[in-house]
Amino acid sequence: MSDSVIAAMETAVAADPQNPALREHLAQLLSQAGRMDEAWTHATAGLGQAPANTTLLGIAATAGEATGRQDEAAGYRTLLNALDPGNATSAPAAPAPTPPPPPPTATPTSDESMPWDNDEDSSSDDEERVRAPMPAAGDVPDSVDELMDMWGDSDAPPEPEVGEMSRERFYLKDVGGMEDIKSRLEVSFLAPMKNPEMRQAFGKSMRGGLLLWGPPGCGKTFIAKAVAGELDANFYHVGLSDVLDMWIGSSEKNITNIFDMARRNAPCVLFLDEVDAIGQKRTQLRGGGAMRGVVNQLLQEMDGASNDNEGVFVLAATNHPWDIDSALLRPGRLDRTLLVLPPDLPARQAILELHLRGRPTEKLDLAKIAKHTNGLTGADLSLVCEQATEYAMTASIETGTVRPITMKDLGKAVKEVRPSHGPWIESAKNFAMFNNEDGRYDDLLAWIKQNKIK
Ligand SMILES: Nc1ncnc2c1ncn2[C@@H]1O[C@H](COP(=O)(O)OP(=O)(O)O)[C@@H](O)[C@H]1O
Ligand SMILES: [Mg+2]
Repeated sequence: MSDSVIAAMETAVAADPQNPALREHLAQLLSQAGRMDEAWTHATAGLGQAPANTTLLGIAATAGEATGRQDEAAGYRTLLNALDPGNATSAPAAPAPTPPPPPPTATPTSDESMPWDNDEDSSSDDEERVRAPMPAAGDVPDSVDELMDMWGDSDAPPEPEVGEMSRERFYLKDVGGMEDIKSRLEVSFLAPMKNPEMRQAFGKSMRGGLLLWGPPGCGKTFIAKAVAGELDANFYHVGLSDVLDMWIGSSEKNITNIFDMARRNAPCVLFLDEVDAIGQKRTQLRGGGAMRGVVNQLLQEMDGASNDNEGVFVLAATNHPWDIDSALLRPGRLDRTLLVLPPDLPARQAILELHLRGRPTEKLDLAKIAKHTNGLTGADLSLVCEQATEYAMTASIETGTVRPITMKDLGKAVKEVRPSHGPWIESAKNFAMFNNEDGRYDDLLAWIKQNKIK
């Protein structure tokens, strides 16, 4: 297989990373060329979009076996056998270590026929196949969701000891409004991450991470999840303040475990929530020897000197950027920052829509409600919706018939919910005004000015 064909496919995939058919083609080419490590990467990425694609499962299993990922490969093999009974060599729950590939048969659609292409329509009717009768076995999935659950069992160590691992099908388009943030994310973070060839061509490394900061409840976690979706990566959420206490004493080891977990599940967005907790703890502990260790270990893992961090994207979030250990903000670490402020008008409307989805409502003019909620955070808006729902529910219970949520309910709820970011803005303003020599708080100060906050 000529390298130029592969290179062309790589460019196509980079331009359209969400396209499983392209991934499938590229993974096949790489596997034929014996480039199993890359075949593995693309097959598993493609499975993120098309989890029941038997061609991709076959490549993932074979490439995984060839590259020492025995456990994960066995998981894919199990799924392949479950989905493609013709290919099954043993009960899905206990697959033979390496079932011999079935004899190749030509497929009418592709001239790159592979051993696992033993079915003429392997990629077109995966959904159909999932619903088709399966051999009797407890582990056979009967929906894509169930399939994903099984996947979770076999693809990775199921539950991390610390934090939560998930696979998000959630993208920037699902984040309402915030166009400015989205375009900054795209330019400064997503585009370079999605285009390894370009990075290579320009000699830029993949190192470095992104720090999201701003008042609580304004969408930092939400945006981090969307980034994971965009990168087609696992989302590993670790709340640092929750776990720091249990780290004292064995902190270094635990930081290493967290990063190992992320590496094993690459591509993976490692989301370090509340990174300021480290800085805060350190001052509280006065001189804070224990926390110095945590910071140092974190730096070492992020610098990736002794580790391969390919496909691990570090995102961090904080409400208190001034508490962050400044060593974490240096180049190659959390070196890009993004201020996430209370939602703008379209974002507020989207948030209201999101929270009212699936509830009985009269015809609502949410644009109007959004106009009257300037200054409310995402969390405040969710409270507005809960309140309004409660009014409608109380009325419904009184009469015994469902009374949908009305504009009046929402209006009443808006009056009751107070903006929650006041205290944050207050203290942030102080920090920003007196510590802005390097311009790091310019965005915040501009926003404060624009919104005439005294
Ligand atoms: N732009 C947005 N579009 C839709 N929902 C949003 C948006 N921003 C925030 N939200 C909602 O507000 C909630 C709080 O946001 P979150 O990400 O948890 O805040 P933070 O992490 O900054 O404290 C989210 O769960 C989400 O429901
Ligand atoms: Mg959060």
